[in-house]
Amino acid sequence: MPRFDDRTVLVTGGTGGQGSSHVRAFHAEGANVVIGGLDAERGAALADELGARARFTRLDVTDESSWCAAVQAAESVFGALHVLVNNAGVQNPPALIEDTDQATWSRILDVNLTGTFLGMKVAAPALRRAAGGAVVNIASTMALGGTAHYAPYVAGKWAVRGLTRTAALELGRDRIRVNTIHPGVIATPFIHEPAAGAVSAIADFYSPEPFAVPRLGEPIDVSRLLLFLASSEASFITGSEYVIDGGLLLGPALQAETA
Ligand SMILES: NC(=O)c1ccc[n+]([C@@H]2O[C@H](COP(=O)([O-])OP(=O)(O)OC[C@H]3O[C@@H](n4cnc5c(N)ncnc54)[C@H](O)[C@@H]3O)[C@@H](O)[C@H]2O)c1
Repeated sequence: MPRFDDRTVLVTGGTGGQGSSHVRAFHAEGANVVIGGLDAERGAALADELGARARFTRLDVTDESSWCAAVQAAESVFGALHVLVNNAGVQNPPALIEDTDQATWSRILDVNLTGTFLGMKVAAPALRRAAGGAVVNIASTMALGGTAHYAPYVAGKWAVRGLTRTAALELGRDRIRVNTIHPGVIATPFIHEPAAGAVSAIADFYSPEPFAVPRLGEPIDVSRLLLFLASSEASFITGSEYVIDGGLLLGPALQAETA
């Protein structure tokens, strides 16, 4: 039986990249899906393709009133909201801290951190009205260490970990679970296209060859983990963090010469 029959899921940044994979995966498991995003054309096309159990709603995660409208849309169209996926994210153009202007710092933190905060703030009462549910925040393996030239991104994603744990404590008694996923390098425009203001893309300087699973991650890899964490199969899991990186954080799989 599909795991999300009669459940409604809101995915931010749902019009492309990992977000649209998550939308399709939830929909395939029976969910009503609310596709939140900035790109109305792609969002409407995806909703049309999926049919009656899908809606696009314009959602800028940095804007609280936009969040209120999206959550209200989920409740008015489908009756309740059960799952929130805070997936929207942006990367900074690579730069040393001393060369990072405050506007860039604020822009990245606004989307990646404030967007996640606002999402949980606005969705929590709706999840409570639904008698419980799940939030999954998408952070990054960059939230587990330092990465030169990515200070705003790293700092924002680290902070999402603290937010997740705090929300898990605040919402657990209401049967709302909150967890974090840390993707490694996943094949989306995020790595294939330069960040706003940058000239090169992550894929220009990253190769999966030396790592334990020598391929890029695919969005569906992350979607499968997400489905599990958002489902009742994970009912005892909250405040937790899941790395999905093909062994990237293990470091290179050095091959010793053998006789
Ligand atoms: N691709 C990777 O290698 C990778 C690795 C680790 C973490 N992540 C994280 O995964 C998430 C999804 O990224 P992706 O790989 O699909 O990249 P992507 O660039 O394809 O998707 C990001 C999405 O966020 C949306 N977005 C940006 N600002 C927004 C805003 N203000 N309001 C609403 N939506 C907004 C974009 O329109 C886009 O749809 C992000 O949080 C990213 O930080 C990606």
